[in-house]
Amino acid sequence: MEERIITNHELKEDSFEKTIRPDSIDEYIGQTEIKENLNIFIKAAKMREETLDHVLLYGPPGLGKTTLAYIIANEMGTNIKTASGPSIEKSGDLAAILSTLEQGDVLFIDEIHRMPKYIEEILYPAMEDFVLDIIVGSENSSRNIRIDLPPFTLVGATTRAGDISSPLRDRFGIISKLKYYDVDELKMIVERTSRVLDCPIEEDAALELALRSRGTPRIANRLFKRVRDYALVMGNGIINLEITKLALDKLKVDKLGLDETDYNLIRAIIEKFNGGPVGIETIASSIGEEQITIEDVYEPYLLQIGLLKRTSRGRIATKEAYEHLQIPYKELL
Ligand SMILES: Nc1ncnc2c1ncn2[C@@H]1O[C@H](COP(=O)(O)OP(=O)(O)O)[C@@H](O)[C@H]1O
Ligand SMILES: [Mg+2]
Repeated sequence: MEERIITNHELKEDSFEKTIRPDSIDEYIGQTEIKENLNIFIKAAKMREETLDHVLLYGPPGLGKTTLAYIIANEMGTNIKTASGPSIEKSGDLAAILSTLEQGDVLFIDEIHRMPKYIEEILYPAMEDFVLDIIVGSENSSRNIRIDLPPFTLVGATTRAGDISSPLRDRFGIISKLKYYDVDELKMIVERTSRVLDCPIEEDAALELALRSRGTPRIANRLFKRVRDYALVMGNGIINLEITKLALDKLKVDKLGLDETDYNLIRAIIEKFNGGPVGIETIASSIGEEQITIEDVYEPYLLQIGLLKRTSRGRIATKEAYEHLQIPYKELL
């Protein structure tokens, strides 16, 4: 499948993300409440010479969960070991990861909601009592052995808090929901990226990028990178408003940051389903997208900016959606 510019998922090119990733709380823009809380908890843990409580970060892709996990380890002055839910297929995989942990380490498990349930259960005693219970031997002569683990901090990230079982959720002391960034914050992120990459951007251009980034730093940075290419080839390397608009129009990212898939989605609801309400599966199959992509990537932002509404009977397109797509709005009778 062709890679889309506005996808909030990590693309191959995003090794460049690592170079622009802030590595301290001070450099991390926005998410003020989360930062304030973490600051206190981290300071307190350090004063007590204890590990930080386990942290669950959730929210749409690209909002800075992985970045925060690394920042937590940095601020605690510890190492970070990483794993992802889907890559932990057998209980042995998790046991192997846990047994490499050293005192105070951060264990970051990305997409933690995709870890199989029976493996999740191994995490419970590990999180609660820092022990690993494993079964050794064959079926008729098996026995349990218990291995002590050093105290560590589990940082879990997920796009879907609702998919995490409550026993797992209950074992996190700190649960933080990341929010979409506002335009000012995104503008600061764009300007920070410009400094880090040593590639100047004019202020109105930074604002334009911020406006079209769907509240998402990953998208802001990705658009920055593309616009930078246009500025280099078509201009003098400095990113100005004219080049920014031209590049974004070419990339088919509209004023609200919507791309063709958003348009297809809204248009389908309006034209095929009379504005809704219509179920998400129906929408997904009618536009040939995966339901999960719509739910994780497209819908949250369209809900946030008020173009879609969720009702008990399905999704509806709002009056604002009709206006944005310049389709005459018919008041529902
Ligand atoms: N608060 C922030 N301040 C500055 N840059 C950020 C912030 N949050 C995210 N970013 C940038 O966005 C990119 C994507 O963030 P990431 O942590 O990978 O998102 P997630 O793990 O939630 O999908 C990172 O490379 C980082 O440069
Ligand atoms: Mg991530």
